[in-house]
Amino acid sequence: MAGEVRIQRSGKMKKPEALNHEGKDQWNKKAEFWDNLHGEKGNQFHNQLVRPNVEKLLGNVRGKLILDVGCGNGAMARALADMGANVTAVDFSLELINRAKAYQGYDDLIKYQVLDATNYDELLTLGEGQFDAVISTMALMDMPKIFPLFSASRKLLKADGYFVFVTSHPSFNSNLPSISINAGERDGERVVDYSMKITHYLEPKVQIAMGAPNEPNPHYFYHRPLSMILNEAFKAGFVLDAYEESSFDIGGIENRNPLSWDNLTDIPQVIAGRLLIK
Ligand SMILES: C[S@@+](CC[C@H](N)C(=O)[O-])C[C@H]1O[C@@H](n2cnc3c(N)ncnc32)[C@H](O)[C@@H]1O
Repeated sequence: MAGEVRIQRSGKMKKPEALNHEGKDQWNKKAEFWDNLHGEKGNQFHNQLVRPNVEKLLGNVRGKLILDVGCGNGAMARALADMGANVTAVDFSLELINRAKAYQGYDDLIKYQVLDATNYDELLTLGEGQFDAVISTMALMDMPKIFPLFSASRKLLKADGYFVFVTSHPSFNSNLPSISINAGERDGERVVDYSMKITHYLEPKVQIAMGAPNEPNPHYFYHRPLSMILNEAFKAGFVLDAYEESSFDIGGIENRNPLSWDNLTDIPQVIAGRLLIK
């Protein structure tokens, strides 16, 4: 099926269902690490690259009902609740949902649920025509298929509802880029610059990758070119109405690691989009 990314292992093609099942175990295993990494308010990546895009594209959320898909430890759901929204937050990892629920003070504003976002029927149990907005941050690239989420969201949303996503930049940050430091001389001056090498883009691929430094175990990560991500949304009945690309602020990082994204401040790590119902 278009939009699915398959993996070849030991001569056998793995089905999306099998990959998704393994992915759930991988995320359950790293739930404690992920929760410690983000804490109550989210880490630097969340606060510089993810949340500002969600806030910009969602607009005023006061009094709105928002579905957060692939919510992790709930950092975004809490931020939305703090801004006055009611949130239903779902994730397929029971361990992460338990950790999200452990943050006190949000019982009236956030409803957490274990749910597989690649399962159309499971998604529809959340209630058709209920939500003002659906968001999914840094989770589309962790799912072996994304069409079920887009097509179910089309039904879960109110007629004037919209879908906001933030995901790894398909050109620069989902196809196993490698980073180099280059030292040389220009016009009699010594210069050091930083660059990135990309070896593939158009073909969708499954990779096994660490989402953050020092993770206890890697997880499946699905590279799709931008056209494939957007075409899945268009096929489900959405149009793209706003689009952003973000990198770390030039002055915003202390203790820069030279062989990391810290110095690639002109190359975006994420894309964000708002999808309206066609
Ligand atoms: C990189 S984390 C992002 C978490 C959070 N949205 C954030 O922005 O920090 C990806 C999340 O997607 C969840 N996820 C991956 N595949 C999923 C699926 N099929 N159904 C529901 N959640 C899924 C993982 O458990 C994990 O919590």
